[in-house]
Amino acid sequence: MRRRRPPAASLQRYLNVSDIRVGAKKRLPRAIFEFIDRGTEDDIAVAHNRQAFDQLKLRHRAFVDVSERTFATTLFEAPLAMPVAIAPTGFAGLCWYDGEIELARAAAGANIPFTLATGSIASIERVADAVGGLAGARLWFQLNVWHQRALSHQLVERAARTGFETLIVTVDTPVSANREYNVRNGFQQPFAASPRFVLDLLGHPRWCAGVLLPYLLRAGMPRNAHHPAANDANDANGLGSPVDREAAMRCDSLGWDDLKTIRRLWHGPLLIKGVNRRDDAIRAIACGVDGVVVSNHGGRNMDSAAAAIDLLPEIVDAVGTRATVIVDSGVRRGSDIVKALALGAQLVLIGRAALYGTALGGSDGATRVLEILRRELDRTMAYTGCRNVSDIDTDILYRNVNNT
Ligand SMILES: Cc1cc2nc3c(=O)[nH]c(=O)nc-3n(C[C@H](O)[C@H](O)[C@H](O)COP(=O)(O)O)c2cc1C
Repeated sequence: MRRRRPPAASLQRYLNVSDIRVGAKKRLPRAIFEFIDRGTEDDIAVAHNRQAFDQLKLRHRAFVDVSERTFATTLFEAPLAMPVAIAPTGFAGLCWYDGEIELARAAAGANIPFTLATGSIASIERVADAVGGLAGARLWFQLNVWHQRALSHQLVERAARTGFETLIVTVDTPVSANREYNVRNGFQQPFAASPRFVLDLLGHPRWCAGVLLPYLLRAGMPRNAHHPAANDANDANGLGSPVDREAAMRCDSLGWDDLKTIRRLWHGPLLIKGVNRRDDAIRAIACGVDGVVVSNHGGRNMDSAAAAIDLLPEIVDAVGTRATVIVDSGVRRGSDIVKALALGAQLVLIGRAALYGTALGGSDGATRVLEILRRELDRTMAYTGCRNVSDIDTDILYRNVNNT
């Protein structure tokens, strides 16, 4: 049984990402909605990410012929329809049955990259199989480095073998985040049936029938496809008790040598994600990375994190033209994309916005989100007198001396 898709026409009534978020909230069990929507502790970083974008102001430019606009761009020598890629988000597959595949299809349709997370429910091979051959498909893989490095390195090899073109190594999660709402909601990973979570699910029969049931019929409870702990009933990898196995899926001893090893293993473009400091960016480039993602993980890890958009200028300054700079955390409007580019990013990643769309309507819902962002980007470029992405620079920003 597949989840019924809303007719594509009905998605037209969702006019912006905020509308789509509300639609997603209605469809998802509370625990799953909060898992994708919220941050950590007091949700201060999530709110701050938005405030930082909202405080940045742009200046309208007059007397520029903007009748022919394009937001096409190039990254790592390949063309992209717009300067946007889908961020890695574990558990898109809980928003919709095979949500990662649905989202990857939407990205291919929009001609932008899709990043599959280590923490996804669909495996590297299934996504490559389902989407790799589509016109416009550009698959990136996000790597969590685990305590047992060799297990992570196997994922790198699998991604290379199946045609993923870019590797993003996440470097901002040495320990699990303090997400108290998951505890309150009885939401655990691996997926388990706590009484509160079961009650929550019973209140969402449409989600149970359309998302959970197909997984149960196919392969049992949805679980992380790459997690050796979840797929290793006999503990073949020697990870120990279930608690030890969970802990083994983090790495609080990640060092520069790990990055150098991964650089040797991966021959395509290599990015590190979660860079907040100029010294980290400079050292990463010295280790051979092709780019950095300035990110606070969408405010999901450290609640006192600075907003990535505020950190962007100093990282751009440190990196210069030696590597690509990408930013994420808080992008909800096309104007946010313009602001990020004006501050020197070459591309933005979108996380939650794409998940809300997937939750609302699978690949059609995600496509609707991308369409909305594209229109808003186009409109903002016209207002600011930008005919193409290389016209977008600091000159369009308004700097309020009282509000630096
Ligand atoms: C539900 C969810 C799961 C995520 N999982 C991962 C992950 O497994 N690895 C990772 O590097 N980032 C992960 N992220 C962070 C995103 O890649 C991205 O940095 C963030 O969502 C950007 O902020 P935004 O959601 O405001 O766009 C996740 C984000 C969300 C919302």
